[in-house]
Amino acid sequence: MCGIVAYIGNRQAYPILIKGLKRLEYRGYDSSGVALLNDKNLNIYKKKGKVDELVAFAEQFDTTSTIGIGHTRWATHGEPNDKNAHPHFSGDSNLTIVHNGIIENYDILKTALEQQGHVFKSDTDTEVLIHLIEEIQRSENLSIEEAVRVALTKVVGAYAIVVLDEKEPDKIVAARKSSPLVVGIGENEFFLASDATPIIEYTKKVTYLNDEEVAVVHRDGTFQIKNIQNENLEPSFQYLDMQIELLEKGGYDYFMLKEIFQQPQTISDCMRGRLNANEGWTTLGSVENNIEKFLNADRIIFVACGTSWHAGLVAEYLFEELARIPVEVEYASEFRYRNPVLTEKDIVIAISQSGETADTLAAIELAKERGAFVYGVVNVVGSSIARATDSGSYIHAGPEIGVASTKAFTGQLTLLTMMALNLAYRKGTISQDYYRQMVVEFSTIPTKIEETLKYNDKIEFIAEQIKDSTNALYLGRGYNFPVALEGALKLKEISYIHAEGYPAAEMKHGPIALIDEMMPVIVIATNKSAYEKIVSNIQEVKARKGFVIAIVTEGDKHIQKMADFVIEIPEVEEIFSPLVSSIPLQLLSYHIAVMRECNVDQPRNLAKSVTVE
Ligand code: F6R
Repeated sequence: MCGIVAYIGNRQAYPILIKGLKRLEYRGYDSSGVALLNDKNLNIYKKKGKVDELVAFAEQFDTTSTIGIGHTRWATHGEPNDKNAHPHFSGDSNLTIVHNGIIENYDILKTALEQQGHVFKSDTDTEVLIHLIEEIQRSENLSIEEAVRVALTKVVGAYAIVVLDEKEPDKIVAARKSSPLVVGIGENEFFLASDATPIIEYTKKVTYLNDEEVAVVHRDGTFQIKNIQNENLEPSFQYLDMQIELLEKGGYDYFMLKEIFQQPQTISDCMRGRLNANEGWTTLGSVENNIEKFLNADRIIFVACGTSWHAGLVAEYLFEELARIPVEVEYASEFRYRNPVLTEKDIVIAISQSGETADTLAAIELAKERGAFVYGVVNVVGSSIARATDSGSYIHAGPEIGVASTKAFTGQLTLLTMMALNLAYRKGTISQDYYRQMVVEFSTIPTKIEETLKYNDKIEFIAEQIKDSTNALYLGRGYNFPVALEGALKLKEISYIHAEGYPAAEMKHGPIALIDEMMPVIVIATNKSAYEKIVSNIQEVKARKGFVIAIVTEGDKHIQKMADFVIEIPEVEEIFSPLVSSIPLQLLSYHIAVMRECNVDQPRNLAKSVTVE
């Protein structure tokens, strides 16, 4: 939800800002803009649409400057157009701001400012904030950093902001609350951004701002951090560990395709040091450090949104079946507002790729307030959720840039499977022999995904057959029910085909009415348990002339005879099957979206990091 980047130093700011905005485009692509300060002249160039449109537009201007700020927008207040694009000027055009988040009390602030004579040009909450800063700076005769700090004490909502003042051309002021902001520290230069991707090629030394902190970075290489209560703070530094190649498409047409094909590697990375097939064990350091809490937990509650919530559903099957721990899986957005019953013997596990999802963060805060132990399963290192939880594990999938989550989903499944196996063994709910056998079997998953990816051409051919559908139904049972939900979500979000996922047996309680020859029904039919039942479900669809695409275990001739198309995947233990059966569904959605000429990596209306509720 909006990406921010800023630079101050001796290099040219504009190319750094543009490159950074392109990296951050996954956070929103409704409009983009930059503000550059040159010879005490503050100029803003902004344009509706993607960063490339901004670049084309800005060609006619002199973009020379060694200080600047940039923004790529996911619209909240005000439609996506040039006027509402960031940066925004203050009334006298001396100040400018970029903002990620929502100022919830902007209406009250705007009315008060209008009464003081302020005139607004856009419909955004952000413009209200820069006018507020301007008003405070002018009336109280404050430096820009003081004006920002005081203004933020009057604001309700979420923000990561960066502010430039034409009269103070050697500094940038930044602040955050509930939206991320990273400061990269170079030699007499600073880089600020919503995540580390625009910073990585210039410096590895960073500090992550915490909530209600205000940073001032100066051209002479000095910087200070305060909280909004005006107390000086000591920054803590971290060193980035990220490879630039991971931020490029590397020969693939889309990041999504690259990320699908990376999965054998990312799953191995997630297992590294945590699973030993030769010795037959799997372990997670942070579970080990809190083992008593896990072994004595009354309940585990998974909180997440979207695809991460689907990973939580798979975990429910795993943790209940293997470790016999009662599990609930909650949409973070519902959990946070429904006054849930929680005790100190509950463990809340928050699952998030980005580590920035606003609802998941709020659910964590609620769980902490009520005394539960909160654990994070997160991809983005140093993200807000990683820092807000009591403990947790990274999935080590590397940057996921395609808006549709693929490798993060299988990374989450990998981590949660290792956790369930380890806890089950520790609790004595599975035997040592079974534990060892499963660990060995689990270690073969990357190879099995590799084998599944070889069916890409066939999946592309099948995609051609259903690409013009307007609806699709995904069915699965047991471990493959969440996979059906995830398959349907992937299809709708990138190809704009309406799709629904259902437990296969539930079909006859309603959705069966939809089935006719125009309705592709994708059935995940790899289960050994309930195999006959899923066969019956396929027959029910065929009896109504539905078009069946079945995901089956290699060599399954029985379903092959019934289905219109089958996609075979290697035989795999049922408890691990979502890791493999989700791969053909990712590829199917991808190919359909490409054939429908959709922007696979940046689907309409979506953003990768949902930092607003
Ligand atoms: C779908 C997708 C979203 C995210 C959801 C939660 O492909 O990516 O549904 O899963 O927005 O995001 P995270 O995992 O970052 O909390």
